[in-house]
Formats: sequence, C-alpha cells, structure tokens
Amino acid sequence: MTTKIHKSTLKEILAQVEAIDTDTLIIIADQRLWELYRNELPLDKIAGKKIILRTTPSGEGVKNFDEFASCSEYLLDKGVHRKAHLIAFGGGSLSDFAGFVASTLLRGIPWSVIPTTLLSMIDASIGGKTAINSKVGKNLIGAFHKPENIWLNVDFLNTLPEEELVNGYGEVIKYAFLNKDISSHLKVKKFDLNELIFKCAEYKLDLTEKDFKESGIRKCLNLGHTLGHAIEKIYSLPHGEAVFWGIALVLEIFQNGDFKSELKEYAKQLGIHERPVPWYKKTFPIDKIMNFISKDKKMLTKSSLEFVLVEKVGKIKYQSIPLDELEIKLESMKEKLSDYSF
Ligand SMILES: NC(=O)c1ccc[n+]([C@@H]2O[C@H](COP(=O)([O-])OP(=O)(O)OC[C@H]3O[C@@H](n4cnc5c(N)ncnc54)[C@H](O)[C@@H]3O)[C@@H](O)[C@H]2O)c1
Ligand SMILES: [Zn+2]
Repeated sequence: MTTKIHKSTLKEILAQVEAIDTDTLIIIADQRLWELYRNELPLDKIAGKKIILRTTPSGEGVKNFDEFASCSEYLLDKGVHRKAHLIAFGGGSLSDFAGFVASTLLRGIPWSVIPTTLLSMIDASIGGKTAINSKVGKNLIGAFHKPENIWLNVDFLNTLPEEELVNGYGEVIKYAFLNKDISSHLKVKKFDLNELIFKCAEYKLDLTEKDFKESGIRKCLNLGHTLGHAIEKIYSLPHGEAVFWGIALVLEIFQNGDFKSELKEYAKQLGIHERPVPWYKKTFPIDKIMNFISKDKKMLTKSSLEFVLVEKVGKIKYQSIPLDELEIKLESMKEKLSDYSF
C-alpha cells in the first residue's frame, strides 16, 4: 500500500473521508483541534457511516500507556471491525498515538491523517512510524504502520502558536539541504508555503516508501539530529529548533563552516535568523553532549557514530566518527563554538 498525499480544502477533506470504503469511521482528534475546527470540519457528521469519535489530551500528553489503554477499550466497546477506518486529526503527537492505536486494534486497521502542525505535515505523519512514550524514554513503544491518506491544508497553521510553527522550520531547512528543488523553492523571495510543505512531504514520502524500515537512504533524514538531540535535551528546546542548531554544529565541526551561508539564507527566508545560540553566555557543554551522544540509538558500534554531512545542496555523505575523536575535536573547537554566531 502506498500512502497518498492530498492538498485539500476542508470541504474536499470531508468529501474524501466520506468516500473511504468503510461503513465505520473512527475519529481520534486532539481535543484542542476538535474545539477549534469541529464546526468547519464536522468529521462526526459524515453521512451514511457509523462514526466513533474520541477526543484526546492535547499534544505530547496523549502518548502514554494509560491513554492508549483507555482509547483502545473505548473503541472496542463501541464496536469496531477490521474494515473500520481510523482518522487521526491533530499534530505529530496525535498521529503517533492514533497510528499506534490503529496498528494494534484488531491486529491492525487502516488509517489516515489530517496533520495540523507544520512538523506533522512535513514529517511526523509521513513514513508510518507510530509510537507512544515509556517512562524510560520517548517513542520506545511503537510500530510501523503506514497511513493510507495524508490530507494537507496549510490553513490549519493560522491557529498554530508561533513557537510551534518555528519548530517545523528546522526540519524544512534539513529538507532544503537534502533536496535541491526544496532548496530552490525556499530561496524564492516570497515563496509559497503551501507548495513548500507539499514538496517536503512528497520528498519524505518518497524516501520512506523506498526504505520503509530505515536501513538505507532514509538515514539522510538524520541530518542535524545526533547533535540536535543532545542540544534539545540539554537546553529543553523544541525538536525543530534543536535540529536547526544540530545542522549548524555539523557544518561547523566537520565541514569548516561550509554551507553556513546557505543555512543563513534559509533561516532568513523563514524569519528565524536572529536567534542567539542556545549556549549564548554559557559554556559550550562538551561533557554533556558526549554523555548524551553515547546513548544515541543511531550508534554504529559501542564506540563510533555515523554523522550525516552535506556534500553539496541536494547531496549528502556519511562519516563514521569514533566517540573519542569527536570529543577531541569538540575540545579543540571549544572557543570557536562558544563564540558561534550568525
Ligand atoms: N512518527 C514520526 O516519524 C515523527 C517524526 C517527527 C516527530 N514525531 C513526533 O511528533 C510529536 C510532536 O508533534 P508536533 O510538533 O506536531 O506537535 P503536537 O502534536 O505535540 O502539538 C503541539 C501543540 O499544538 C497544538 N496544535 C496542533 N495543531 C494546531 C493547530 N493547527 N492550531 C492550534 N493548535 C494546534 C496541539 O494541541 C498541541 O498543544 C512528538 O511526539 C514527536 O515524537 C514523530
Ligand atoms: Zn526530526
């Protein structure tokens, strides 16, 4: 099954959901989104089908065992069958959660997504990775289960808080480095955000379709993520912003600052170029970074890591780096990195 990405108005989304070949629709909606859009997008009023609606706590708070259990019990109690179709309506937290419910309910039922954050439109809803969190860590309980449809509608971003929008920009910049077409589009003075979102989503979909379980080409999506995850944890940053700094660090540490002008240009286009580095007026936290990185799930072996580097815009390369070498490199660049600015 291949996921289909649609650019649709709210009316078209309703019509396309109505046309799904099932007599039972399960709507799992982020509570906040449901309050905002239940009148404009009345998914619970679709005619001719049994509708089971479940609203959930907003954002990350839904991705836990308790919500998973109570949602699954609720749906089973309402009477579902294998050909019921589940619609996830919300950001990445909601689609991770609802997709996981879809993957386990009756050993897996079909599902589709209406993503409502920039991050979920271009990243989280695509590729079939679904998950909830464990006390031990994020996304540790999950499954691969691809959605059938993803409906993109840029108008949802009108109600998205500014910081959540910025959160998506880090991933947009990552895609611009990975794909020339996205880069060129982003460089246009007044670029079309709708089109940019569609291009990013199609790009990720293409990669993940070719490499469903993340063994080969999909690895390029980790650009900026190894150092980014460390920075995210250390400074409690939103993921997308941390990815942005992760890319900046990779270019500085491994590539002598090459492509910094591209990074600056992309950031400027998105209006996020005047941000101080997270370690501004603080020491650059090498020990914390090393401590965090050594626990990275993407470790190649116990003592070395594979980094994604930019060969040129639209082409990446991989470099395996022993941890002790990385630490020496960071130490030797400590002052330069402390003073890093845009
Ligand atoms: N499965 C994957 O491949 C993948 C990839 C990246 C991220 N993720 C996951 O995505 C999650 C983060 O998702 P996110 O960044 O989309 O945020 P989110 O889903 O946590 O939503 C953030 C906040 O914005 C609100 N919101 C969402 N859309 C809105 C809108 N249109 N208007 C007003 N408010 C809105 C939500 O209610 C919530 O309070 C993380 O759990 C992460 O692990 C998954
Ligand atoms: Zn990411």
